[in-house]
Amino acid sequence: MAVTPLLIGMPEMRQSSLVVVANRLPIDDSVAPDGACEWRRSPGGLVSALHPLLRHTPATWVGWAGGTGPAPALPDIDGVRMRSVPLSGEDLRDHYEGFANATLWPIYHDAVEQPQHHRRWWDAYQRVNQRFAEATAQVAEPGAVVWVQDYHLQLVPGLLRTLRPDLRIGFFLHVPFPPPELFMQLPRRAELLRGMLGADLVGFQRAQAAHNFAQLVTKVLGLPATDRRVGVEDRVVRIGAFPVSIDTVEMAALADRPDVADRAHRLRHDLGSPDQVILSVDRMDYTKGIEQRLKAYSELLAGGHVKVRDTVLVQVAVPSRERVSQYQILRDRVEREVGRINGEFGRVGEPAIHYLTQPFDRAELAALYRVADVMAVTPLRDGMNLVAKEYVAARVDDSGALLLSEFAGAAAELPQAYLVNPHDLEGLKQGLLAALRADPADVGERMRSMRAYLHEHDIRAWARSYLSTLDQSGSMLTRLGGG
Ligand code: ADP
Ligand code: F6P
Repeated sequence: MAVTPLLIGMPEMRQSSLVVVANRLPIDDSVAPDGACEWRRSPGGLVSALHPLLRHTPATWVGWAGGTGPAPALPDIDGVRMRSVPLSGEDLRDHYEGFANATLWPIYHDAVEQPQHHRRWWDAYQRVNQRFAEATAQVAEPGAVVWVQDYHLQLVPGLLRTLRPDLRIGFFLHVPFPPPELFMQLPRRAELLRGMLGADLVGFQRAQAAHNFAQLVTKVLGLPATDRRVGVEDRVVRIGAFPVSIDTVEMAALADRPDVADRAHRLRHDLGSPDQVILSVDRMDYTKGIEQRLKAYSELLAGGHVKVRDTVLVQVAVPSRERVSQYQILRDRVEREVGRINGEFGRVGEPAIHYLTQPFDRAELAALYRVADVMAVTPLRDGMNLVAKEYVAARVDDSGALLLSEFAGAAAELPQAYLVNPHDLEGLKQGLLAALRADPADVGERMRSMRAYLHEHDIRAWARSYLSTLDQSGSMLTRLGGG
């Protein structure tokens, strides 16, 4: 089997019957001097989804450990083997920051920012996908199930099928899959589709995405397809929607802990004991609608509809993809606007917006969710949005209003939320006011039904549904802890 130069010299690993392949490993960049290493719940939906699932499962996770240069040898973490794939500085720039996050990411999110195209980014995308495929081929035992995640690795299923035809290969896309008019802009559209079709099952967050994919494989590759199946030579590739979720029970248990309840009380006190707290928690990303939300809040303040003393906004926006120019520009604009709003409407000791850019541990996030009377989740486009689901799971007393964008995948599952179109500034303001002024009985009723839904449709139900479709025999279900 061909091995790319960066993998030469890597220690051989034991093989696994379940291999997850994702761009990122779920661990911190830094490994302690004694070699100890902890799961990192990095701000991002993919790690949040897969972490509770794989813990204590004899699986291997193939991914990038952060940083550049040779891949570190990592210890098993919570029983999961870590196989790191190295990225050079050039790979990082051209694959992760370039093709993945400056070409595919904007195209897949309605082109709310202009996608960029560079030929060397495509070269890097192919090179890095090849390296991931080879690393995976080394650690997958004969007949193993390999579950490839997300848009960074769309060529891996096809490459892996060539290297290891014995494997059962799944692919899941965490982000939206765009309509044909947008996808057709991609110069390498045929190769990207062919790469995904190397899988036995291609999963999406929403049925619309599966439909877009089916249309595209027919249009671009001339293959026969329905929204459930594509014929590829002598194979049938299944396609479908599998909305990702969270560990509902874990989040509810965390939010219910006495120390978390105490922390929530203290937070409210530290916020000046306002009547109402609005909370938003996002990666700093132009898809999240942060600027539109700030504008809506600022106009409500200016119009006298809300007063800083009574209603505060807590905006958590953890920096993301910081070397990509569109992300730098966004951060500058958001910070300027937060400064303007605080300057104009705040008072000494009473800012209008509490703006935080730090990563928080799960208990602190749960306390924030508990303190939020209104959770504003208003992305312009989002594959799912797990923050919305985490908020619902954390509202153990059934209180709290979720203001949710129609353009988040979660909206299809949580129609009881206060739904808004974040492109419509007036609608956003009205939605925010409606959530702030809602009758507590109505709020409680909505929250109860969302909580009941999430109790059933949690992360394990997602994995069960995906893996049982991948292997109709159901034999893979036993490979996941907590089955
Ligand atoms: P995305 O995958 O686009 O980042 P999601 O809402 O699906 O969006 O997932 C974000 C995940 O990152 C959630 O699990 C959330 O709890 C976590 N997260 C977001 N902000 C922070 C933060 N400041 N500290 C820690 N975790 C965070
Ligand atoms: O949800 C899409 C996604 O790219 C996930 O793959 C990841 O969990 C998250 O956004 C964070 O992105 P990054 O890995 O670029 O920090």
